[in-house]
Amino acid sequence: MIITIDGPAGAGKSTVARQLANRLGFAFLDTGAMYRAVAWACLQRDVDFSDVDAVADVARTIVIQFDGDEVLVDGQNVSGEIRTNDVTAASQYTAGNLEVREILVEQQRRIAGDSDVVTEGRDQGTVVFPAAEFKFFITASPESRARRRQEEFAARGQNIPLEQVLADQTDRDNRDAARKVGAMKPAADAVEVDTSQIDADAVVQRLLEIIGGTPD
Ligand code: C5P
Repeated sequence: MIITIDGPAGAGKSTVARQLANRLGFAFLDTGAMYRAVAWACLQRDVDFSDVDAVADVARTIVIQFDGDEVLVDGQNVSGEIRTNDVTAASQYTAGNLEVREILVEQQRRIAGDSDVVTEGRDQGTVVFPAAEFKFFITASPESRARRRQEEFAARGQNIPLEQVLADQTDRDNRDAARKVGAMKPAADAVEVDTSQIDADAVVQRLLEIIGGTPD
């Protein structure tokens, strides 16, 4: 069974998707980590991001693997490095590269195979797994998302003003939504959940009820 969870950054999507996968005993696929992994490898190789073929070549050549919560590129654990601001900023170029998207979409389908997976991203319900059994679109108000991201940065020792987090987030949202392929939007048959007022546990509970799992 495939369950897709799409939505913007900072809506608590990752936490919810991981917890849901745990509760159901499903595998978890973080597709954002794959766009980040390609961006990280491009930075390592000093690839010019405006050279779309060179960026696609990197996506074609590297081997991305998941080991539990860890992300490996060609066997190297890059779980921490793919979360830096540099990689976050660079991932717009891998996410906006049509060939990279084709390569990663194909890998995502292969990783999922015919197993039970909760997969998280922007285009999982619309493009990658249009026939998924359950599709969710997790959102929250821009302010609550920005506040959450600001707290995440603070936990890593980075103090960034809320206005800046909000401005960066708006830029990313606009780019994500405007992309010609793999744009961030809810699938027509997705259930939308707004997490502005509820915590991750309550969201997971809600999703389990919809899926027909066994809430506590
Ligand atoms: O979700 P996360 O912030 O890790 O995503 C990293 C980058 O990859 C973002 O720019 C996001 O728009 C992009 N992405 C994508 N398609 C996905 C998942 C993430 O374009 N399925």
